Amino acid sequence: MSLPERVAVTVAGGSAVHHDASAATTEINVDGWQKVCALEAIPMLGARVVKSAQGNIAVFRTADDAVFALDDKCPHKGGPLSQGIVFGRKVACPLHNWNIGLEDGNAVAPDKGCTRSHPVKVEDGAVFLQVAALPPQ
Ligand code: FES
Repeated sequence: MSLPERVAVTVAGGSAVHHDASAATTEINVDGWQKVCALEAIPMLGARVVKSAQGNIAVFRTADDAVFALDDKCPHKGGPLSQGIVFGRKVACPLHNWNIGLEDGNAVAPDKGCTRSHPVKVEDGAVFLQVAALPPQ
């Protein structure tokens, strides 16, 4: 079975800090980095959700404009991390307040667990995600 040439994704607001209901649709090539939104479209200390065939991905923006991408699923009981509060290089899950490291998806001790992280970068004010690298869920 061959892979599809392109995978459609939708980017939607998903932050507890800033409720942005706007949404945009783009296309993801199977190979390489693909633009998903402008950096400014992600609320500072918040996140946007990228919906893909591989599941929802939360793209976070820190106070110093670093971006990180994790599955939008807490390793505890699946809470929506995109609706959590970003602080430093962590996000606090909105359901039971576990702290999850944005760089690796690991829960901060004493909690244990890990959510999948994804390659993401910012170039010329735009956010790029390597969704093509995701294995199917
Ligand atoms: S589901 Fe995230 S802390 Fe419980």
